[in-house]
Parts: sequence; C-alpha cells; structure tokens
Amino acid sequence: MATQHIPIHGNYHGYYTRRPFINDPRLALLPEDLFFGKRVLDVGCNEGWVTVEIAQKWHAKKVVGVDIDDTLIRAAWRRRLAVWSQQGPNESTGELSEKKRKRSSPSGVPRNVHKPDYFPSSLEHMFGPLPVPPSENRGKNVFPHNVSFRVGDWVNKSDAVPEDQEGYDVVVAFSISKWIHLHGGDEGLEIFFRRVYDVLTPGGVFILEPQAWDSYKKARRIVHSADAHSQSELKTRPEDFPGILRELGFGPVKRVGTVGEEGFCRPIDMYTRIA
Ligand SMILES: C[S@@+](CC[C@H](N)C(=O)[O-])C[C@H]1O[C@@H](n2cnc3c(N)ncnc32)[C@H](O)[C@@H]1O
Repeated sequence: MATQHIPIHGNYHGYYTRRPFINDPRLALLPEDLFFGKRVLDVGCNEGWVTVEIAQKWHAKKVVGVDIDDTLIRAAWRRRLAVWSQQGPNESTGELSEKKRKRSSPSGVPRNVHKPDYFPSSLEHMFGPLPVPPSENRGKNVFPHNVSFRVGDWVNKSDAVPEDQEGYDVVVAFSISKWIHLHGGDEGLEIFFRRVYDVLTPGGVFILEPQAWDSYKKARRIVHSADAHSQSELKTRPEDFPGILRELGFGPVKRVGTVGEEGFCRPIDMYTRIA
C-alpha cells in the first residue's frame, strides 16, 4: 500500500502548482544586478523553479539548489531540462550589456511583459527534453551549465553541499525558516543563520522570506508526528530575526517589499554580511 506523503519539512510536492510563477514576483523585488555573475545558494529549493530562474534569467555565474527531499531534487533537475528545452537561441548567454541590463528586467524584456516560450512546452512533453550541448560550447557559467542541485539537510549536515567550501555571494532562503525553526527549535534556527553567515563572502547578501508566526500553528500540526518542537517551546519570533542576524555580523535588515498571492503574502528581507 502506498504511504501518504506528509510534508513535514514543508517539502510540498507540486508546490509550484500552488505558486505557479514563471517570473517569480519575489525575485522581481530584488536589485537587478544582485545575481549577475555571482555564486548563489538556494536553500530549500523544492522543485528548483526559483533556482533555475536565477541561473537563466538573472545570469548568475553558478547557482546551487539544495533540498532535504530527494524526489524534489529529481524534479528540479527535470525543471532545468524543461526550461532549457523551451528557451530560444541566444537567450541566457549572459552577454547583456551593462546599458541594456539597467534598462531591462533580468530576462532582457521589460518587467511584467510575458514573453512566450520559444518552443512550446508540449514539444518537450511529447518528445522529451532537448539534449544539452557540452559546456565547452556555451561556457560553464551559462545556463543550463551554471545550475546544479544537491539533496541534503543543509542545516544539520555540513557536508551536504561540497560547493559551500568555495563560499557564495548570495544565499536565498524563501519560505523555509519556519520549517527549520519547528524542527530545530530556537537553537536550530540560530545554527541555520550562522551557517548562512559562514558560507557568505564578506559583503555577501542573504535574502530571507520569513513566514509569519501565525502560520506556525498549522505547520505544527503537519509536523506533530515528527520530532518537532512545540510552538510554545519556541521563544524566538520572526520579528526577532533582524536582531539575531545583526549579532551574527549582518547589517540592518532592508525590507524590499511584501508580495505573494493569498496565503503566501510575505515580506522579502535583505541582509548584508558586514564582517
Ligand atoms: C515551503 S518550501 C519553499 C520552496 C522554495 N524555497 C520557494 O519558496 O519557492 C520549503 C522547502 O525547504 C525544504 N527544506 C526544509 N528543511 C530543509 C533543510 N533542513 N535542508 C534543506 N531543505 C530543507 C523543503 O523540503 C521544501 O522543499
């Protein structure tokens, strides 16, 4: 008998059928050159939609997505191929001029304009993904060669992502702090923040989308069968995060906006590692 999947880590399967973004509005709030030519880590990448978008449209040098759920990571690798199969020639070459980049969104088209896929997704469904040419042809820092995925508990397994050794310019943590907090308690959350600090280069940026305290109650019901801390044991609140991060060596929080459809309307916060 098939066992029912319980998303005790927020590891929702089909998450992007509920948050179906081609151009993720959370990314659209960020400075346009934030990822350009940068090394990026996406913690809790789920099926890799945000990770792939950063690699393809925001022209990161290298993006690594990590998730605790191996089924999601397999889906993320498929997402990489699907997006690659739909893109037209000369997209994501990373060769946007400085001037054009300032005028445009990361994809080179004005913000909020939906650009149709060059190849319809039905082609990929019918015939499978297009083969990826060797990285020597396009360059290893160009999509899809600039994105990869890892399975692992990034908070508690310090060797889950070998790329961490080299460090990152940007770490993205969208909608994951609640799950880490519920499983690891206040201490686990602090371990997470410290790890983010440690893998960032000085001047590096941490992008956090914290979930509201109100939403912990429902999540607690999902994790109750696992070894999770009850909400009453948690002393830290999401509004305490800026102070904790400040003590770790980040600058003051910069709230770049609040975005998301009903049930997902959350702030996006930016912190810079100062020391
Ligand atoms: C609610 S989803 C958010 C997905 C994505 N970041 C977004 O907002 O579009 C949270 C993700 O974090 C992952 N996750 C939770 N705890 C984790 C951990 N300790 N290490 C790695 N991934 C984790 C879950 O498997 C899940 O895919």
